[in-house]
This record gives sequence, C-alpha cells and structure tokens, in this order.
Amino acid sequence: MDKTEINKKRISSHKNTASGAAEQSLECPDASGDSRKFYIQTFGCQMNVHDSEILAGFLEDLGFQEAAGVEETDILILNTCAIRQKAEEKVFGMIGKLKKMKRENPQLIIGVCGCMAQQEGTAKRIKSRHPHVDLIFGTHNLHRFPHLLKEAEESRETVLDIWPEGKEVVEGLPISRKEGIKAWVTITYGCNNFCSYCVVPYVRGREQSREMSNIVKEVKDLVLKGYKEVTLLGQNVNSYGKDLDNGITFARLLEKLEGIEGLGRIRYMTSHPRDFTRELTRVIYHSEKVCEHFHLPIQSGSNNILKKMNRSYTREHYLEVVSFIRELIPEASITTDFIVGFPGETHEDFLDTLDILERVRFDTSYSFIYSPRKGTMAADMPGQIPLKEKKERLNWLNEIQNSISREINETLRGKSVEVLVEGFSREKPSVLTGRTRTNKLVNFPGKEEMIGKIIPVKIIDVKTWSLNGEVLEA
Ligand code: SAH
Ligand code: SF4
Ligand code: F3S
Repeated sequence: MDKTEINKKRISSHKNTASGAAEQSLECPDASGDSRKFYIQTFGCQMNVHDSEILAGFLEDLGFQEAAGVEETDILILNTCAIRQKAEEKVFGMIGKLKKMKRENPQLIIGVCGCMAQQEGTAKRIKSRHPHVDLIFGTHNLHRFPHLLKEAEESRETVLDIWPEGKEVVEGLPISRKEGIKAWVTITYGCNNFCSYCVVPYVRGREQSREMSNIVKEVKDLVLKGYKEVTLLGQNVNSYGKDLDNGITFARLLEKLEGIEGLGRIRYMTSHPRDFTRELTRVIYHSEKVCEHFHLPIQSGSNNILKKMNRSYTREHYLEVVSFIRELIPEASITTDFIVGFPGETHEDFLDTLDILERVRFDTSYSFIYSPRKGTMAADMPGQIPLKEKKERLNWLNEIQNSISREINETLRGKSVEVLVEGFSREKPSVLTGRTRTNKLVNFPGKEEMIGKIIPVKIIDVKTWSLNGEVLEA
C-alpha cells in the first residue's frame, strides 16, 4: 500500500470531522493568527496523508491558511515516515536545509511529527542536532497538536512530546480534506502483526478499531458533502473489529457501508493475505459499491523467506486466496507488494518470487529493496544481501512485472470501463483523469462538468501504468 515517495500536501477546503462529532473548540495560540500560513510536507503512506489532513484541520480552526509554497509559510510541518532508510534520509536532508530558512526568519515555527518522530532515539537526535526544530511529536498524540503548537510558540526550547502508546481512539478531530470526490477514512490504527522487517508496529502501536457507528457517521457526512468514494484505512483492515468484542467484522462493516445511499465506491487498504477469507470475497462479490481491486501484499514467493518474515501464510495459501477471488470475480485486479533481498534470500528464493509473479500475473506490484530497520527482528538476521545484488533482483522483477502489467492492460483495449472522474490531468490540462473500479488510471478528453461523476469510458490505447480512453455517451 505504501507509495512511500513524498506526498506533497496542498491542503484546502472541505472541512469535516471524524465521526462527524462537533469540532473541538480550540484555544488559538496566537490571537493575530488569522493571516498566518502553514505548509505541511507529508512523507510515507496514506495513514500519514490522512494525519496531515487532521493537522491541516487543526491549523485552519486556529485561523491559519495554507501557504502556496514553503517560502511564504509561518509554520512548516514535516510529517515523516520511517518505513525504509531512504525515507528517513530524505527527512534528515530536509531538516538540515531548514536551518538557513530559520536563520533568515526566526519567527518560523518548524515541527517534525509522524513515524520517524515516534522513535525515541530519532526524536532525541533531531532535538540535539537540529535545535532550529521547534516542535517534535509522535503518532499517538496528534490530537494534542494545538496545545503543543502553543507551547512551541511560547518556549525558547524545542518542545518534544512522544507518547509510548496510544491510549484510546480519539474521535471528533477536525479533518481538512484536499478534494471533494475521494476521502480516506481510518477504520483501524496500529498493527499487531510484527512482520520481522517492519517498523510500523513500533511507531503506530497496537491495533485499535474505531466503533462502527463512528465510521458510518463519518461516511454518511462525507456523502452529504458530495464525496463519491471512500477508502477505508488500516494496516490490516481484515482484522477490523477483533479488539471491539462486539462480533463486528470487516465484512460486516462493508455490508453496513454498502447501505449508505449516494455513496458510489468503497475501497480499503491494506489486506493481509492470511486474513482474507472466502466469506469476505463473497461479501465483495455481492456488493455493488466495493470495488473489484484486491491489494494483497505477498512480500515474497518463497516459503522459507515468508517464514523468516513472520508473515504467517505460505505461497500455497496465497495462491488459494487468489484462486477463490478469481473464481468468483474474474475481472478482479490483483496488486501486491514485494520486498527483495530480505536477509538470507538465496537465488532460489528469489526465483520463487519470480515464479509467483508469473503464476498470479499481478496487475501491478510495488517492489522495495529490503531496508534494515533498527529494533526489528530482521535487522539482526544473518545473511544480509549486498545492495548491488538487491538492486539487480529488483530490476529483474520490475522488468517482468512491467511486461505483465502491459499485457493485462492490453486486454482492456476497445472495452468500456466505468471511471470515477477526479479532475484534469496535471500534465495536460485539457485531459480528464480518473480510475476504474479495478483502480487503473484512465486519461481521456472531457468536460469539466464530468468531474465527480462515474461515467463509461472506452479504452482506445494502453500503457504500462495507465490507459487512454474516450467518453462513451451514457
Ligand atoms: N500494512 C501494510 C503496509 C505496510 S508498509 C502491509 O502489511 O502490507 C508497505 C510496504 O512497505 C510493505 O508491504 C512492504 O512491502 C514494504 N516494507 C515494509 N518494511 C520494509 C522494509 N524494512 N524494507 C523494505 N520494504 C519494506
Ligand atoms: Fe508492517 Fe506487517 Fe503490520 Fe503490514 S502487517 S504494517 S508489513 S507489521
Ligand atoms: Fe506509513 Fe511510513 Fe508510518 S509507511 S505508517 S508513514 S512508517
């Protein structure tokens, strides 16, 4: 799920609250704050993107406006990701560069939050080596942001506040969503899986589900505001409800959301292959709103490596899940994540990964070079693979995947697909862009009034990563 490249956030309009509860009345840290500007730079996955929407919500409540660029901001927040070394390096590079900016504008408030900041060692390192950072806080105390900001404005010292764990799910936080068509809705926080390579359980804490009634209320409010699609967010959405002890499962939640009139599409991220059941597939099959896109991160095709990764499924189980999905929903798109060069991955293990790639024929896969994360089990495992070897494996895998993606897309040529129109393409302003139910990007010429609508489009040309089409008269 993690498209861990920088997600530059330009947040504006569409204020909502999670669960629709009354927005908190917050004390403004600066009475003259109405013309002050904020800029949030978000790294990492959709969890962070959504957290940035909450930060923006708070800031707008405090009278701040979003800055058009980093040069004109009064408050700059880096919402960070710790999933791989590279993600951390980018943030450290940026923090270093901000020193000059702070020197030129001592009034500028610089905040660092998110998954990197949640790690105590990293937070302390930022504090001691980069005194120009005013505020450091983690993932469990996001709801305290307005108070922390006030403290940072009043204090000459860096304010550092990291909570070791989340207490309870906090509802009613303001959310400033970027656009009015698709919305992210959190259903679970944290993760209990402890895959041996992964830092997420350490920086996001244990799994906590939101009450179904709060999720339903939030989605209903979004529909009233004109949103057409929601993506339910969780590190393992399939375990939704397990901690609530009220018998409500992810499948039940989907059925409940299906009944919301006016909602066009439901998506979810991310599924764990161990927990993806036939029952859930049947619910999706019978649903009109849940899209036929299955993102099922496999990570490796070798049982030996899957075991070391603590993924708790085998390649055989994975293939069975794929086969019951395809049996019931043949048009489904299936995408995945791979990690190459996990400690001890032999050439044969890697060939098993290529084998599963060819057997399943994923529509797309997101592949990452294994990055050791301090504190995780895998970081201390023997048999770390040299970077050169990891890169070669990644290129090999990507090459095969790209040709499969292209071949699958080719089968759509001449077909009609249903597209939710999201807006004009950034590269070509006269071209509209949207996604199929199977999550494929489609570009086509069209009119502004089509934005926000679900329309039929005929595919006339295909590429590896996207499709070109023309609008069919409805
Ligand atoms: N909860 C989701 C997302 C986890 S992070 C899931 O289970 O799939 C997104 C992806 O980042 C993972 O699927 C994995 O492929 C990759 N990833 C996580 N830790 C990594 C690491 N240490 N090195 C390289 N890739 C990693
Ligand atoms: Fe990380 Fe595994 Fe949890 Fe995904 S399921 S967030 S990969 S520990
Ligand atoms: Fe997401 Fe990165 Fe944190 S992938 S959960 S922002 S470590």
